[in-house]
Amino acid sequence: MMLPKKVKLVEVGPRDGLQNEPTPVPTAVKVELIHRLQDAGLRVIEATAFVSPKWVPQMADNAQVMAAIRRKPGVAYPVLVPNRKGLEGALAAGAEEVVVFGAATESFSQKNTNCSIAEGLARFAEVARGALARGLRVRGDISACLGCPYEGDVSPEAAVRVARALDEMGCYEITVADTIGVGTPGKTREVFEAVSKHIPPERLAGHFHDTYGQALANTYAALECGIATFDSSVAGLGGCPYAKGATGNVATEDVLYMLNGLGIETGIDIEKLIAAGDYICGVLGRATHSKAARALAAKKAA
Ligand code: HMG
Ligand code: MG
Repeated sequence: MMLPKKVKLVEVGPRDGLQNEPTPVPTAVKVELIHRLQDAGLRVIEATAFVSPKWVPQMADNAQVMAAIRRKPGVAYPVLVPNRKGLEGALAAGAEEVVVFGAATESFSQKNTNCSIAEGLARFAEVARGALARGLRVRGDISACLGCPYEGDVSPEAAVRVARALDEMGCYEITVADTIGVGTPGKTREVFEAVSKHIPPERLAGHFHDTYGQALANTYAALECGIATFDSSVAGLGGCPYAKGATGNVATEDVLYMLNGLGIETGIDIEKLIAAGDYICGVLGRATHSKAARALAAKKAA
């Protein structure tokens, strides 16, 4: 199988990466991070989430973040939207792209969005209709495709059912997510092959958390299935508040290092990306989770 020549990296650090931080991250820091990421060449940056501030307090400054971003031509700033109220907030903030986020399992849907899969899909259809009618783009995420923190093993058909529903409501791209990072490459291949029977691989994306150290291997397995869009988080920040124990997304720096090694084009400058990771790790007072960033920093220092 030929690997794609170009890959689009969707930076989810400012949203997935920060949503689980226990202490409030100042709005100005989030905005500075987004600016540094776009200067590094990222063309899609998930900026924030229009979710309930009671559920995810860290995203309560969503409107302020959107107002303060210096929007760069050619860069998209998708925002998470779970329902009509979220869409109203996103529209008022001038969002041009929204992300609806469902789950492959009933338990995860309940814990994350307080509704069943079917109820969630009905809300997303309403969000999608409203967003598309105003000329916005709509992306769809599916959590717990490779394993569920509450139900364990998940069949590929569960992801297929939700993916087809998101496709029917007009999502231009659908993300198959391993929320708790339990998947392995064989399982990744299985789920992408199953979903690709209904939605072409060019319209699918991978979103791998690295809890079990499998995210890069899973990324490679997905590349072999023709997937050319991946979500990742600078410095490997993040985790979902409703998936206990799950760690951050695969680090953008690590995915980029691998793609550079494979000769796959991304348009991203690794030095500037590492500097963006250093910036946010400095503010949060912790070391990066990116092995490539650590190794390149050590090499530079030597
Ligand atoms: P609910 O409590 O059932 O909502 O939550 P409700 O409709 O009953 O409303 C209750 C209150 O929330 C009301 O306020 C609403 O106005 C307010 P009150 O009258 O009590 O003052 N409310 C809102 N406020 C602001 N924005 C909104 C909104 N909606 C209602 N959009 C709800 C349902 C979906 C809102 C809630 O469960 C929620 O916000 N969940 C989001 C959880 C979340 O953000 N999780 C993390 C992101 S997903 C993720 O990380 C996975 C991903 O990375 C992929 C992967 O790795 O798997 C994407
Ligand atoms: Mg996630």
